[in-house]
Amino acid sequence: MGVNLSGRHFLKLLDFTPEEITYLVDLAEELKKLKHEGTPHRYLEGKNIVLLFEKTSTRTRCSFEVAGHDLGMGVTYLDPKSSQMGKKESIEDTARVLGRMFDGIEYRGYGQEIVEELAANAGVPVWNGLTTEFHPTQMIADMLTIREEFGSPKGRKLTFMGDAGNNVANSLMVVCAKLGMNFCACGPKEQMPSDELVATCREIAAENGCEILLTDDVAEGVAGSDVVYTDIWVSMGEPAELWAERIRLLEPYRVTSEVMALAKEDAIFMHCLPSYHDTKTTIGAEIAEKFGIEELEVTDEVFESAQSRVFDEAENRMHSIKAVIYATLK
Ligand code: CP
Ligand code: NVA
Repeated sequence: MGVNLSGRHFLKLLDFTPEEITYLVDLAEELKKLKHEGTPHRYLEGKNIVLLFEKTSTRTRCSFEVAGHDLGMGVTYLDPKSSQMGKKESIEDTARVLGRMFDGIEYRGYGQEIVEELAANAGVPVWNGLTTEFHPTQMIADMLTIREEFGSPKGRKLTFMGDAGNNVANSLMVVCAKLGMNFCACGPKEQMPSDELVATCREIAAENGCEILLTDDVAEGVAGSDVVYTDIWVSMGEPAELWAERIRLLEPYRVTSEVMALAKEDAIFMHCLPSYHDTKTTIGAEIAEKFGIEELEVTDEVFESAQSRVFDEAENRMHSIKAVIYATLK
């Protein structure tokens, strides 16, 4: 029987089988083709979705908006200050109200338990647009990007450098384990994924013929890698005071040309974005002034290099979010 995700929530990839994840990547690929050909695909005309953002966003918000419009839907955006959620109305009540008006609800914010509670009460599909623990829509885009480069993620190796316990690293570990891609978390022991998640992912990886490696040794971590991936060192919702400590811990794990040279010759560089690869941002400039460092998790040279796929990855967010919406609402 074919995969059917109609009516399902999209909260974390641990809830999905490898076949279901592959189906979403396939669908994203098809929808990308339609978009590039200019073929209309207003498959969900008459439906409406709401986007709840308790943290800022460029890619995720724009992807949900453009995907929603391309599918023929109405899209409502609620920013952190303009809804009653949390302050005057519980998560549970908000979910029950929005579920009466909308066909689907996106949530970006804090603890995973919030998006799970929305899902438990909404009565319509809820999509996780990033929580403190996970960033699952990013993974469909990343697997599409990897597939476009290498054909299939299976048997390849992805190394995540730096803050290896954050939402993006956690999600990469899960998706790699599910799709048979070897995953390496390369960073200091203070910034590793939780023992519990590692144990869960190792069990999944064993079923799918791949491995999960944790190391603080850059040469070991990057050796044989097809994909070198990184993310910012202080995530949204974490206090700015953490910068000094994170810089001290994570500087050895900056992705430089020397690091890329330790990976496979045809390796690619990936980053979910946004990135501090220069001083053209307010925070990047403040850090340069305070700590005397102009590039943080990745050098500008690697970010701009022929190995970098960061903008393909960003475009793929839209096609893959469209796949998630369509698969769950059709
Ligand atoms: N990668 C990502 O989620 O980007 P935004 O924070 O801009 O949505
Ligand atoms: N780890 C980052 C990802 C941003 C897309 C954050 O949570 O801020």
